[in-house]
Amino acid sequence: MAFMFLRETIRTYRERDPAARSPLEVLLCYPGVHAIMWHRMSHWLWRHDLKLLGRFSSHISRWLTGIEIHPAAIIGRRLVIDHGMGVVIGETAEVGDDCHFYHQVTLGVARRAGGGKRHPSVGNNVIIGAGAKVLGPIMIGDDARVGANSVVLEDVPAGVTVVGIPARTVERTETGRRVPGFDPYGIPCDGSLDPVLRDLDQMHCELADLEARVAQLAAAQMRQRQDAAE
Ligand SMILES: CC(C)(COP(=O)(O)OP(=O)(O)OC[C@H]1O[C@@H](n2cnc3c(N)ncnc32)[C@H](O)[C@@H]1OP(=O)(O)O)[C@@H](O)C(=O)NCCC(=O)NCCS
Repeated sequence: MAFMFLRETIRTYRERDPAARSPLEVLLCYPGVHAIMWHRMSHWLWRHDLKLLGRFSSHISRWLTGIEIHPAAIIGRRLVIDHGMGVVIGETAEVGDDCHFYHQVTLGVARRAGGGKRHPSVGNNVIIGAGAKVLGPIMIGDDARVGANSVVLEDVPAGVTVVGIPARTVERTETGRRVPGFDPYGIPCDGSLDPVLRDLDQMHCELADLEARVAQLAAAQMRQRQDAAE
């Protein structure tokens, strides 16, 4: 079961990240994969009334990956946590299947509250951009998208894109429609636009790919420097 879960998680990362070149690379180099596998263990401990052990296990995961997931949080299948660092998922948060979170996403509490449900519920196939804060016991509907650095304080209906502080609904500019499938940056890569826009979109996609590669190289170089300095 755990093996099947790991396999489908790795497959999803490969489908969504052009920088992921092999299953082994995803297994070894993607903190989101480590955090999710670790969370399954912490969640199991939590559900079997080994609460302190569950907390401690999730703390070790946070220490290793920079991703903090409370062991009580309910996480669906094939969640991708891209880059990962600084992600916080609170105790009563729920996340559906096939979601995609970037770094520094918070599913947190809006204001001081007692026990009970305090964190958001996120539907299926939701994309939450880098640095976005989704706060309070609100619902983010299926297929919704939350723009980078938004602060979401109210329910988001299914299929809607929200951006800004506080988050407001936006319509896509330029093409006036959303493409089906995975579309994190708001830029379709399926060649469905007119030729000029398609070329521009292709360049955007290639640029995003290059940026991801440069970031990886810079991180590797920094690691090498640190190793050499030690
Ligand atoms: C939310 C998002 C998917 C919107 O894409 P889209 O549907 O193509 O929307 P558009 O780019 O056409 O923008 C629509 C409007 O929202 C605004 N907007 C888009 N993203 C925004 C953001 N994060 N914050 C504030 N405003 C934003 C645009 O300026 C535009 O405003 P206007 O109507 O006043 O001109 C995309 O902008 C985004 O934030 N993706 C997350 C990417 C990310 O986190 N990347 C990290 C990679 S490491």
